[in-house]
Amino acid sequence: MSKSAEAAVAELFRAAKAAQGAAYAPYSRFKVGAALRTPSGKVYSGCNVENAAYPQGSCAEAGAIAAMALAGERRIAEILVIGDGEALCTPCGGCRQRIREFADDSTAVRVAGPDGVRRTFTLGELLPESFGPGHLKV
Ligand code: THU
Repeated sequence: MSKSAEAAVAELFRAAKAAQGAAYAPYSRFKVGAALRTPSGKVYSGCNVENAAYPQGSCAEAGAIAAMALAGERRIAEILVIGDGEALCTPCGGCRQRIREFADDSTAVRVAGPDGVRRTFTLGELLPESFGPGHLKV
């Protein structure tokens, strides 16, 4: 990876980690942060926000995507998700589809733990043969 690409990932990691610190997760106690970069170079982040009515909670990725949309942006160049624990904090199924709306098979999805990025997947690996906006153009 080039120096500038490394710096860009480090910036994403810092943003996701800061977002994780803001997570509201009193029920699962599992705090998640997400940060995405758009082709413009801007970074948007989000955290999970749980709810006493459990299904109403929302994921960190959903928050980051909402922040991106609010800013008028519509494309994810790469996204990083951070969670604690040994297991890889890969995006849940619903969030893979949320990311898909604004990304394509080659988009990098980086999965981090407290000390840094552990694995990088492509969205196509995490959500193969996916359904997207193009399918509605019949
Ligand atoms: N969570 C996320 O924020 N993103 C994911 O992709 C996986 C799960 C959150 C939802 C819930 O608040 C907590 O992690 C435990 O499932």
